[in-house]
Amino acid sequence: MSHRIPAKITGVAGYVPPRVMTNDDFAKTLDTSDAWIRERTGIRERHIAEKGVASSHMATEAAKLLLAQTGTDPAEINMIVVGSVTPDMFFPATACLVQDRLGAKKAWGFDLSAACSGFAYALTVGAQFVGAGTHKKVLVIGSDKMSAILDYKDRATCVLFGDGAGAVLLEPAGANEGILDFHHDVDGSGGQYLYMPGGGSLNPSTHETVDKNMHVVHQEGSNVFKYAVRRMAEVAAELVERNGFKNDDLALVVPHQANLRIIRAMQDRLGLDDSKVMVNIDRYGNTTAGTIPLGLRDAVAQGRLKKGDLVLLMAVGAGFTTGSILLRWAY
Ligand code: UT7
Repeated sequence: MSHRIPAKITGVAGYVPPRVMTNDDFAKTLDTSDAWIRERTGIRERHIAEKGVASSHMATEAAKLLLAQTGTDPAEINMIVVGSVTPDMFFPATACLVQDRLGAKKAWGFDLSAACSGFAYALTVGAQFVGAGTHKKVLVIGSDKMSAILDYKDRATCVLFGDGAGAVLLEPAGANEGILDFHHDVDGSGGQYLYMPGGGSLNPSTHETVDKNMHVVHQEGSNVFKYAVRRMAEVAAELVERNGFKNDDLALVVPHQANLRIIRAMQDRLGLDDSKVMVNIDRYGNTTAGTIPLGLRDAVAQGRLKKGDLVLLMAVGAGFTTGSILLRWAY
């Protein structure tokens, strides 16, 4: 059964901070190399936000660009949903900070935590309100300052991530456009493989939690890798098939950018050539909730999306969470 939502993306924008950190920069302080990072992950460089710049600031920059580009008055926005695992603070929600800075006086909003699937989850949630007819313009943002929660002495995690944000505008869709179907699931048994143990209600911040290095990303990379390879391909194929399409009907897949080898494994299983798969991990690394909207932004900029195109968004992340959306590009 498919789950059409009569909501469509009518604009996309993104923001990455100006400072670039290359693989060679890591090699100055860690036992790593540009060759290892490129071959094992596909990453060449990532952007890192300065001190004092948080997820809300990047989200606001992306949203401002989006509003300008779509000619949208901030007062027209009804709702703001932000996917992030690096909110500025526990509360208030990043969405509230963004709402205030944009002057989106008629919007309500909230944050949503689904790690690398955060943007896909937020898109489906935001779209439900548009599809229900109660909301006309919804801002969906994925924003993460991963550099704030990395251990820059752990070569197995710190080289993988970057900072960035992307935003889309959702509006009501006509008959043959917008979101055709979505699939989301959770396998909580995978939570042990990718997590940040400190700072929450289980392990509130203390000198001890800092000494034990609990405020950074902990990952068992190969378990996450295997799960992502399997689920990205399985879910993508299932969504395409249950909507009566063939893999070849896809004009573009915009996958979460965690590792180029994960993306290529999915691509091979679907039998797609490079022109049908968006890749920008080389420039941004894994920006968690930022990857899919940044991928859409770059695809639009490169002229790779046109009205009517069948597009698949596909993410797997910590949790484990899985998020996938099949849509017809609407502009
Ligand atoms: O966004 C969702 C979440 N994250 C992901 O999807 C990430 C999924 N996992 C991965 O992308 C990969 O597992 C990694 C890139 C994290 C690691 O690649 P791998 O091919 O699975 O390597 P490995 O963990 O099996 O490690 C192989 C070796 C190890 O050395 P030993 O034990 O064989 O001596 C690591 O210590 O590579 C070493 N290594 C490195 N060497 C140089 C790990 N990181 C580095 C590094 N530079 N940066």
